[in-house]
Amino acid sequence: MITYEQCQAMDRADPLAPVQDLFDRPPGGRIYLDANSIGAMPKAAPQRLRQLMADGWSRDRRRSWSTGEWLSAPKRLGDRIAPLIGAAPGEVLVCDSTSINLFKLLAGALKLRPGRRVIVSEAGNFPSNLYIAQGLDDLLGQACEFRLVPEGDDPAGYIDQDTAVLSLSLVDYRTGQRLHMDRLTQVAHQAGALALWDLSHAAGAIPVDLNAAGADFAVGCTYKYLCGGPGAPAFLFTAGRHQDAVKPALTGWMGHAAQFEFATGYVPAPGIGRQLCGTPPVLANAVLETALEIWSTLAPHDIHAKHAALSRLLIGLLDQRCPGVPLVSPRAYGSQGGHISISHPDGAALVEALARRGVICSHRAPDTVRFGLGPLTLRYGDLWHAVDRLADILADETWRVAAPASEI
Ligand SMILES: Cc1ncc(COP(=O)(O)O)c(C=O)c1O
Repeated sequence: MITYEQCQAMDRADPLAPVQDLFDRPPGGRIYLDANSIGAMPKAAPQRLRQLMADGWSRDRRRSWSTGEWLSAPKRLGDRIAPLIGAAPGEVLVCDSTSINLFKLLAGALKLRPGRRVIVSEAGNFPSNLYIAQGLDDLLGQACEFRLVPEGDDPAGYIDQDTAVLSLSLVDYRTGQRLHMDRLTQVAHQAGALALWDLSHAAGAIPVDLNAAGADFAVGCTYKYLCGGPGAPAFLFTAGRHQDAVKPALTGWMGHAAQFEFATGYVPAPGIGRQLCGTPPVLANAVLETALEIWSTLAPHDIHAKHAALSRLLIGLLDQRCPGVPLVSPRAYGSQGGHISISHPDGAALVEALARRGVICSHRAPDTVRFGLGPLTLRYGDLWHAVDRLADILADETWRVAAPASEI
């Protein structure tokens, strides 16, 4: 039997509790269980943005390119993300969107495996990941074939001597199911293929160790658990051993070896920098940096221990208060991602009813309700209140009168 007092005691013992004060907590006692969608706002972000606009933009204008460290931001921010995903300094870059980074790295992986043309992915992968691979398949014609693993099948069985790259999301965006990155990367390598991982629903929540797994490439969103803000640029990872061998697919001037010599011919920059394409999003990078400055002060072990405890508590409370509701996510933490999902036949209406009671979560068709657990801002007591309200809504069936809203 879990009590509210136990949840409060967990909050008092939480080594990450002081970090909550560094984030905006909107009035009204809302409980945000949507870090899998957009993470919380660092309190420092609005002031950083105002200052950048006043000094960097309004006053200094173009001179800020040399004084404002704007051009070094993609690598600087990447180095701040690296420890959270098991990467070394110089292996992570912040730029573009996750979809665009996926395009760049899939194309690069295909070029690294001449004679092989297959991209293997799961049918249940995030749609943009599928569309990007379909687009590459279309663009490259005979040089590329996109092979989809049916939902529920083990991707290992679909990798063969034609496979150039295995492209998977570490965590399923609906169920929260975590794949075995180490094993699948190994299977890909044994077949001579490369492994590319989308860490969007993992980075900033669960332990990720790209280099221990031997991963070749990775991408991920920064606006989810990492709290980089709406539309924040994504990150990409290229293992050090591939950086100077991989040919960029988008050969823009920011990835040129000497971008300010304005030469006619393209020469890729050494290292991770060649994965840059165009001008960095300076304002968005500044906002993301306020979040990454917070992450850089924290021990990854504390972050992951808190996230694991939140996940366990949520499942315990759901079992206790909502026993008839099926859990979609696996029960073992080692198989879970950043969020915990349940299923409900009218999930969209349930999410709306919860929002009206101050609990913000998300729905994915047809029947999945997702609770994204941001370890830096959530309190254990929040989960008590959220499940308490969920139990009330299920008991009095107020979700039946809620109009489903359109959502992304
Ligand atoms: C797993 C996954 N990959 C890729 C994306 C797309 O990211 P972007 O819109 O930055 O391209 C998302 C967006 O939610 C996602 O959940």
